[in-house]
Amino acid sequence: AGNWKMNCDLAEMEELLAGIKNNIGSVPNDVQLMVAPSFTNLHPAFESLRETNVKVVAQNMHQSESGAFTGEVSPSMLKSIGIETVIIGHSERRSIFNETDAVLAEKVSTALKHGMTVVFCFGEELKDRKADQHFEVVKQQLKEGLFHINDADWDKIILAYEPVWAIGTGETASPEQAQEMHAEIRKMITEEFSKEIADKVAILYGGSVKPANAQEIFAKEDVDGGLIGGASLKADDFLAIAKSY
Ligand code: 13P
Repeated sequence: AGNWKMNCDLAEMEELLAGIKNNIGSVPNDVQLMVAPSFTNLHPAFESLRETNVKVVAQNMHQSESGAFTGEVSPSMLKSIGIETVIIGHSERRSIFNETDAVLAEKVSTALKHGMTVVFCFGEELKDRKADQHFEVVKQQLKEGLFHINDADWDKIILAYEPVWAIGTGETASPEQAQEMHAEIRKMITEEFSKEIADKVAILYGGSVKPANAQEIFAKEDVDGGLIGGASLKADDFLAIAKSY
């Protein structure tokens, strides 16, 4: 999954999409690709990728149905242009836009109510890892933001573990650190829900994934894919990462 963040105007995105579409045949069919453009680019991206199996995903949405929320976008607006999946809880939303676990929990509920799939992001900061609190922090984020859902809702959930210290820093979690956390996340889900649900849910790793390190990260048993920022803005790198799975 490529999270394009606040990058690419329309022309730049069209170039990126052309690059992806030109070589998409090289990606094995069993690899699900997703891209998350800005709100203004969602509709053109959806139209451009209509004939492919690349899903177009929103980076955020508001938790309310409609109303006086200047500058915000609702789930029905997204659905009306064909968008069925939304990223919720990205660390930049949490830290820069002050989205709390309580707000994220509401967003998750609203998305599920609209039948949308949620890519739920979470991850510890460097200070948490240094204090050996990373498992606790992640558990708290999952409990407060996500674990209010029902068993059946898990079919609509994709998890993305993104340690904040690895996002855009060039520093990745080692494959072992990613595996250790992903295994721990499955344990948390087993405890709160069931082993069946824990085994089935896809857990992506995000944080400075690039062609050079994707293969060893994706090779880990509990890593089911990646959420890619910077490297997803270059078609060749994005496809190379996709082929590493
Ligand atoms: P980078 O791949 O640029 O580190 O970004 C990761 C990310 O935040 C994806 O959501």
